[in-house]
Amino acid sequence: MFKGVKILGTGSYLPEKVVTNFDLEKIVETSDEWIRTRTGIEERRISRDDEPTSEIAAKAAEEALKVAGVDAKDLDLIIVATICPDQTFPNTACHVQKRIGASPTAMCFSMEAACTGFVYALETATAMLRSGYHKKALIIGAEEMSKLVDWEDRSTCVLFGDGAGAMVLEATDDVNDCALVASSMHANGNYTDILEIPAGGTLQPITPELIESKANCLRMEGQAVFKLAVTSMVRACKKVLKDANLTIDDIKWLVPHQANMRIISAVGKGLGIETEKVFVNVNKYANTSSATVPIALDEIAKSDLVKGGDYVLTVAFGAGLTWGAALIKW
Ligand code: ACO
Repeated sequence: MFKGVKILGTGSYLPEKVVTNFDLEKIVETSDEWIRTRTGIEERRISRDDEPTSEIAAKAAEEALKVAGVDAKDLDLIIVATICPDQTFPNTACHVQKRIGASPTAMCFSMEAACTGFVYALETATAMLRSGYHKKALIIGAEEMSKLVDWEDRSTCVLFGDGAGAMVLEATDDVNDCALVASSMHANGNYTDILEIPAGGTLQPITPELIESKANCLRMEGQAVFKLAVTSMVRACKKVLKDANLTIDDIKWLVPHQANMRIISAVGKGLGIETEKVFVNVNKYANTSSATVPIALDEIAKSDLVKGGDYVLTVAFGAGLTWGAALIKW
């Protein structure tokens, strides 16, 4: 028996330590001016060494559960979108399950779709709730990118930050009432090498030489990523609007993945949406990969910038390449 799906609450957590562009000037040869003009980033949060992804994910989750009025024991599905897992295995969702005291029988898995992870998780959880097999889901985007970057590579280390965002969803009896109105999710594995961590997996098991050459750290072809990100995100948003029979004027908020201000502006321009409707917080947190969208959604919810019935269009793009747009009726 197919079900509807409701958003019950959101939450987010940012590590306490703030690292400004000026702080980075002391670590690599860069400047606040270079970073701000190319990316819009002013500062980012960095997690402690003894603060794994599951810890910040659990803090975001606890807030979302509180807002939702849901007991962790009632969850039967937990999905954590992350490319910064606590361990290769067990999956990070199991760590979160334990930390928040969730039902010890819930289905828990991680989703590895880089910056697109949260919108992939939203689509996946929605499908699982709609099927009637699950009743209450917790989905999280949580990343500690600071632990994946090469802190001597100025072309990448200045771009990323750490953070987590969460959402609680519930299946309802009204099949026509679904928070995820339309979606368009994609991947193209022909571009696996333009944004990657080359070594550390089974493709190139880690060796001291690979560590020495920093092959276990993130590397990216920035300009190629930029172009593909803009065209793919605009196309996915247009498809979603068409499928929902809406126009960009019906959208209250565009919540794009917060990678950099130039990508965000280009996507907004490509869609013809007013600048005031494009949500931006990349200046405060930099690129937190799969966490940017749920953190932004939580900030919108907390500041009462959205009310029931408003349309919020989210869109993300990341390594894989993966990308996707998800239209939410709040
Ligand atoms: N500080 C100062 N100079 C720098 C820095 C830095 N942090 N990083 C690079 N430079 C220098 C380069 O060495 C180069 O110098 P050179 O001309 O003497 O060789 C010069 O700046 C230009 O380098 P480019 O890489 O060509 O810089 P570009 O103008 O392309 O900007 C950027 C780089 C901001 C990364 C851009 O390519 C971009 O926005 N890419 C999008 C990718 C992105 O944001 N990815 C995030 C992850 S993917 C995702 O989430 C969608």
